[in-house]
Amino acid sequence: MNEEERNEEREIITRREWLEQTGRLAAGVGLGLAGGGGLLRGEAAGLLGRAAHTYQEPARQPTGAATRPVSANDRIVLAAIGVGGMGRSNLRGLMNKPGVEIAAVCDVDTGHMAQAAKMVEEKFGRRPAEIKDFRRVLEMRDVNGVIVSTPDHWHALPTIAACQAGKDVFCEKPISHNIEEGRRMVEAARKHQRVVQVNTWQRSTQHFVDAIDYVRSGKLGKISVCRAWKVQDPKAAVQGNKQPMKPPAELDYDMWVGPAEMIPYQDNRCHYNFRWYFNYAGGMTGDWGVHMIDIVLLGMSRDNNLVMPKRIISTGGKMFVPTDDDRTTPDTQIAVYEFPDWILQWEVHVGPQAAGQGLDGGRDHGSLFIGENGRVLVDRSGWSITDNKGNPVEKPASTRIMNAPNGQNAHQLDFLDAMRERRQTRSDIASMHQTTTVCHLANLAYLRGGTIIWDAEREVVKNDRQAMELLPYRRAYRKPWSLPKV
Ligand SMILES: NC(=O)c1ccc[n+]([C@@H]2O[C@H](COP(=O)([O-])OP(=O)(O)OC[C@H]3O[C@@H](n4cnc5c(N)ncnc54)[C@H](O)[C@@H]3O)[C@@H](O)[C@H]2O)c1
Repeated sequence: MNEEERNEEREIITRREWLEQTGRLAAGVGLGLAGGGGLLRGEAAGLLGRAAHTYQEPARQPTGAATRPVSANDRIVLAAIGVGGMGRSNLRGLMNKPGVEIAAVCDVDTGHMAQAAKMVEEKFGRRPAEIKDFRRVLEMRDVNGVIVSTPDHWHALPTIAACQAGKDVFCEKPISHNIEEGRRMVEAARKHQRVVQVNTWQRSTQHFVDAIDYVRSGKLGKISVCRAWKVQDPKAAVQGNKQPMKPPAELDYDMWVGPAEMIPYQDNRCHYNFRWYFNYAGGMTGDWGVHMIDIVLLGMSRDNNLVMPKRIISTGGKMFVPTDDDRTTPDTQIAVYEFPDWILQWEVHVGPQAAGQGLDGGRDHGSLFIGENGRVLVDRSGWSITDNKGNPVEKPASTRIMNAPNGQNAHQLDFLDAMRERRQTRSDIASMHQTTTVCHLANLAYLRGGTIIWDAEREVVKNDRQAMELLPYRRAYRKPWSLPKV
């Protein structure tokens, strides 16, 4: 244990002490964004050296139990819901930030949950509560915020319930499985005045921010075409053709399926692989599309209130994987979006990712702005400006400076700062609902095989009512689950 960890350990106080302190100090303090008060670091320091608190699964309480509010210098208590690949990565990043404590880890796979609990125990010297049902986590009054890293079909319900229970949320992208539940998530966050950060961490990455600022500066002149793309590795694209099998003993498969249609268990549809099935997610468009299309929308908008398309067409299919592959989302897809005075082409295909094989000079993903004076190209490795002859243009100095090291670290810090300052995050739920909707629209046009005319104000398909019965727009929730009224 290093010095910083020892100091943090000393600051841990017992639940009773915590409640006594916050009950006294936070009397009369509301949960709203404008709220203040709560436990101050100086007062917490007075409790140094007391026994470490062990979080227990709560006794049943009505949902919506009050949550202890967070204020400027307060410690932040988080719980992680969904601790598979990305969930453990988010947990590791957030638990290593100063002032953060982890009360509980939650997963319907007890194997994943035990791995996450061990990580927390190694860091803090005590085991968090291990809870299979996220609703029990939301009943923990001490928990200020939850990290939702479940599969896409399980983002909306825990996020909405967390907002209703007074928790802030760090939610994985894409925010939603479908457009309707995304809207409900925005409404819940606003109604309950919760801070929600969506993990589109490219928004907290310096060179992406610089590229967006340059595009917004107008120096490219009129931009009439943008492109964004992702090339998938062939090994990851193929799901195979399998038969139903017995779920592993450690997995509660009924709870994993949750609100989605019940389809018998197959390992090629479950952990990680759910991405490639419309029952749970949106394929590569819902996965990387949310990251790369987001950058185009940000560059082409004045601020985080994003410009939305009016007309969308999309085509593609299972053109790389065998036709009997279980995957239901396309491995090859092109979507063209028409905005008021420019178009975006989004491209997905499968191919070798080695240098020279990507869509643009070896880049297996990217966002490209084509203007009358030149181009801006950006991906996770950096960004460049070229003039109309293809010559490099010198990049201006950064104006909006991210926390260092930037990227996921800065994005997590932005969430914690926003929780303390009661302000919106860089990837606020409303803005990310817009980007996620744009991605769902490509899948809607693909599944419908026609043109979608979108009314962004009312969030309805103007020319094709039947399109609004398809999964990217809305779903029938499997009982007992339903999309809560907000
Ligand atoms: N922001 C990024 O860069 C990034 C990168 C990778 C993945 N992701 C996103 O993270 C999410 C998870 O992806 P992954 O690759 O970690 O998947 P995963 O399958 O490895 O992990 C998902 C976990 O959620 C658990 N889970 C399922 N239903 C649950 C429930 N009702 N309650 C609690 N736990 C439940 C699963 O058992 C599993 O452990 C996806 O939405 C994905 O798009 C984001």
